[in-house]
Amino acid sequence: MATDAHGAPTPPITETGLFIDGQFGPSSDGKTFPTINPATEEVLAEVSHGTDEDVDRAVRAARRALEDGPWASMDARDRGALLHRLADAIGREADDLAVLETLDSGKRVADCRSADVPLCIEALRYYAGYADKIYGKTIPVRGPFFTYTRREPVGVAGQIIPWNFPMVNVVWKWAPALAAGCTVVIKPAEQTPLTALRLGRIARDAGVPDGVINVVPGDGPTTGAALVRHPGVDKIAFTGSCEVGQVIMREAASTLKRVTLELGGKSPNIVFADCDLDAAVTQSHNALYWNQGQVCASGSRLFVEDAVYDRVVDKIARRNRAYKVGDPFDPETEQGPQVDRVQFDKVMRYIELGKQQGAECVTGGRRWGDRGYFIEPTLFADVRDDMAIAREEIFGPVLCALRFSDADEVIARANDTTFGLAAAVWTRDIKKAHYLARRIQAGTIWINCYYGLDLAAPFGGYKMSGVGRELGEEGILAYTELKTVAVNLA
Ligand code: NAI
Ligand code: MG
Repeated sequence: MATDAHGAPTPPITETGLFIDGQFGPSSDGKTFPTINPATEEVLAEVSHGTDEDVDRAVRAARRALEDGPWASMDARDRGALLHRLADAIGREADDLAVLETLDSGKRVADCRSADVPLCIEALRYYAGYADKIYGKTIPVRGPFFTYTRREPVGVAGQIIPWNFPMVNVVWKWAPALAAGCTVVIKPAEQTPLTALRLGRIARDAGVPDGVINVVPGDGPTTGAALVRHPGVDKIAFTGSCEVGQVIMREAASTLKRVTLELGGKSPNIVFADCDLDAAVTQSHNALYWNQGQVCASGSRLFVEDAVYDRVVDKIARRNRAYKVGDPFDPETEQGPQVDRVQFDKVMRYIELGKQQGAECVTGGRRWGDRGYFIEPTLFADVRDDMAIAREEIFGPVLCALRFSDADEVIARANDTTFGLAAAVWTRDIKKAHYLARRIQAGTIWINCYYGLDLAAPFGGYKMSGVGRELGEEGILAYTELKTVAVNLA
């Protein structure tokens, strides 16, 4: 394997075309777009850009695979076995996938190896076991009828995903859809198409029949929008910004597609003085700075009770000063680059706004280095609830510390947002913990932990953080349609 300037391995980039009906090929108009390594700003590859015509071809292939051929007649248990084979195949190519992910997205290779790849494998195995456990009910009704329900695959699923966890997003979308018997057309983010394409090839080699999985890279307003409008698509599963989530819901209305939306957040992370403070500090730091701050559920509003506020701010500041920013292939590195120039500029704009609006910039606040989209880990103290940095999703290494003095006050402030994705509460008082868990409007509440995610537990947003749930049983049922059958026995 070749190595880059830092001695890091660079797997050859072999899949750059559209993956439709089991074949890689160019787009109908031959157009490509560059994908960049955000650590170096260098172009990694030119990738085919899907047109309306390509999206149409992919949807037709998915429809054919759904309605006839080996997939349509496959027993549910065999679908499960196939998902296990795909998990095995990903395991065999784990290192190439991790390296490719780091090159394309700037995520730390250590995280890709220890978290992202295992999360893909585990999702496939979890839903593999679900494939033959999707069933309806028999329902006692009035009259001489035998009435039952069936859960059928919703059909062709269009899946549109972001760049913060590129391959995890792919597999978390594929696994429940395939287990339910659907076929898919996925549009990866334009910043990070490479692992999605590689996974297409791996799926083909693992025996996923042609047309069951199609990968069509391209921009949102063109390729993505074509998928959302297409009458042959039954459901759109989207992860990304609230703004685009709104566009998708609106556009999907004309064909009344099913939609599930996993959108952004401004999640409150609430630290009471009576908690295990060391654990709270360690995990609150990770809750924001992990993955360069590019996590939908990041703990971006850190509410700290008066009595420990100064200590917590000081401890986080000290961690930031020691936090190692740099090459995501370097095992010592703790924070890599933001994904692209647009995100870098957006985060820097919020940092400026924070300063202008009077928050105290305790650490960071500047670009790191002069090549790549790196930003110093930034901590703002004395943040007020009405500041832009406290209200809007920054999606970068910028933490806002806010002070509070009692439980009902912090509940009201935590809920004073259009978002509702996640929240965390740190306290040793079990009554207080459950009181907050009940009162805070968010799809997930973590008590004395952060990112306590599991594939078996549903995940999604209240309010403008989303529609529907992914993962767990809800995640697979969202890829089914419910049918009622009534038989006259008279
Ligand atoms: P985005 O929402 O524009 O992109 C996500 C996906 O949607 C990409 O695949 C994109 O091509 C596609 N898309 C964009 N416009 C579309 C359209 N009109 N029709 C169909 N598909 C479309 O997010 P972007 O611009 O990459 O990031 C902007 C902000 O969104 C970030 O700064 C962050 O605040 C938030 N975000 C939230 C994520 C989450 O996990 N909830 C993930 C990524 C971004
Ligand atoms: Mg890239």
